[in-house]
Amino acid sequence: MRRHYEVIFLIFCIFLSYFTVQSIEILSKSKLERCEKASDSDNDLNCTRKIVLNMAVPSGSSGGEASIVAEIAEVEENATDLMETVRVPPVITINKTAAYALYELTYIRDVAYKPEEYYVKTRKCDRDAGENVVKICERLQDENGHIIEHSQPLCCPCGPQRRVPSSCGNFFDKLMKGKANTAHCVRFPGDWFHVFGIGQRSMGFSVRIEVKTGSKVSEVTVGPENRTVTSKDNFLRVNLIGDFVGYSNIPSFEDFYLVIPRQGEPGQPQDLGRNFSMWMLLERVRFTLDGVECNKIGVSYEAFSGQPNFCASPFWSCLHNQLWNFHDADQNRIRRKQLPLYGVEGRFERINQHPNAGTHSFSIGITEVLNTNLLIELTADDIEYVYQRSPGKLLSFTIPTFEALTQFGVATVSAENIGEVEASYSLTIAPFLPPKTSVNGFFESIENIWNRIWEGLVDFITGKTCRYLSIDLD
Ligand SMILES: *[C@@H]1O[C@H](CO)[C@@H](O)[C@H](O)[C@H]1NC(C)=O
Ligand SMILES: *[C@@H]1O[C@H](CO)[C@@H](O)[C@H](O)[C@H]1NC(C)=O
Ligand SMILES: *[C@@H]1O[C@H](CO)[C@@H](O)[C@H](O)[C@H]1NC(C)=O
Ligand SMILES: *[C@@H]1O[C@H](CO)[C@@H](O)[C@H](O)[C@H]1NC(C)=O
Ligand SMILES: *[C@@H]1O[C@H](CO)[C@@H](O)[C@H](O)[C@H]1NC(C)=O
Repeated sequence: MRRHYEVIFLIFCIFLSYFTVQSIEILSKSKLERCEKASDSDNDLNCTRKIVLNMAVPSGSSGGEASIVAEIAEVEENATDLMETVRVPPVITINKTAAYALYELTYIRDVAYKPEEYYVKTRKCDRDAGENVVKICERLQDENGHIIEHSQPLCCPCGPQRRVPSSCGNFFDKLMKGKANTAHCVRFPGDWFHVFGIGQRSMGFSVRIEVKTGSKVSEVTVGPENRTVTSKDNFLRVNLIGDFVGYSNIPSFEDFYLVIPRQGEPGQPQDLGRNFSMWMLLERVRFTLDGVECNKIGVSYEAFSGQPNFCASPFWSCLHNQLWNFHDADQNRIRRKQLPLYGVEGRFERINQHPNAGTHSFSIGITEVLNTNLLIELTADDIEYVYQRSPGKLLSFTIPTFEALTQFGVATVSAENIGEVEASYSLTIAPFLPPKTSVNGFFESIENIWNRIWEGLVDFITGKTCRYLSIDLD
């Protein structure tokens, strides 16, 4: 009985991305359990025996996507500590999306980015003065011809101690042309922004689990909203038990408003757009929703014209602490290589990348590594084991050119069953710690893997954590 075998090996310590390698953590041995109908729930598997496996799936670096391939090569029967080798090992592929913090948005109103004060020197300032006298400060009308309240010019007499100091000219000018003065007004010439209230937060991600046993493929997708899901074919059931860290560290923005540039019509937008460069989160106290407070975002004609001691106050008073000031402050910080305080870009990752992002939600990526604890149950009624143990002999082991960064490879192993009965040989190799940073180190460690596979084959070492391949001999 001498044969050549193509052995597909599955690396249990998984390559997640080019330079980070993370290991899946099997929290318990895969166990064989009796299927008991716990309730009338449709979620229960219809089976007599099942394989139960508890595993932790970490996120990718900075909370990003992660995927993992693992194989159930052995199961423990009846809590006996005796591991049975599975003849056709189920292969589990897990794809976990990036995790995000999700916030409800409520549209509130639109505000001007940069309210500006204008003044015009004139000698005939009057609240009803026309454009020929007070120019831009002429009282405004809306599109229906109605007067816009409080938009009329505010007249200040000339003099050195005024809002805008001006010369009063000589006595004759005053007699001939009228008293010199300045007409003041606030206008909102630039961009407008939508303001949103930020409500309840939640966490989002989904984990897709696919199990391939022979030619049979079953899959489920679980997430924080769907914590227990059974596959359509009733073969696979997955329970998202929980996350070891996370929920507590999601920032709360309940005391903030989100502002984003208005692209289309005033009012509730149809689309938030994907240009986050001007999006800002600002404390609610910086806003005046009814517009009547000075020096707050959303300041109105009314607040401006109602300010006390108008003519004795400095030019531009009432119009401080506006959106453009906060944006400028951020730009200064960025120039000094500091993080912005208000802008979202540069401060958060993966902004609004959640599925079904509409105009009622906002999300930021969660950058800490979240472990998702999954309880996976597989119907085991059809699972067959390889029971007997038999001595084996390794004849040769050749490795074709190995393509770097792949998760699978094929090695040709010649082995001989020198015993009398059907047997399974499993090979286990001591875990390796792959480098996190260097490309060269990565390739070196691939070389190490091969060296160890070789050593492993020769030595038939058993009982460590990283399983690389199993060889079945008939
Ligand atoms: C469970 O499986 C058995 C045998 O395959 C079948 O007869 C029975 O209808 C199944 N029950 C349900 C609820 O699917
Ligand atoms: C899931 O993960 C596997 C293994 O890493 C990968 O080959 C596959 O493309 C992933 N699927 C999706 C939909 O991301
Ligand atoms: C466990 O052991 C009992 C008897 O000891 C046996 O009948 C049963 O088939 C075994 N397997 C499972 C999955 O319970
Ligand atoms: C939960 O699962 C059900 C059925 O599989 C599906 O219809 C629903 O969209 C899922 N909900 C979420 C939030 O994924
Ligand atoms: C995003 O918006 C800023 C400011 O309005 C603009 O300067 C920039 O060109 C925009 N970027 C893209 C990619 O549209």
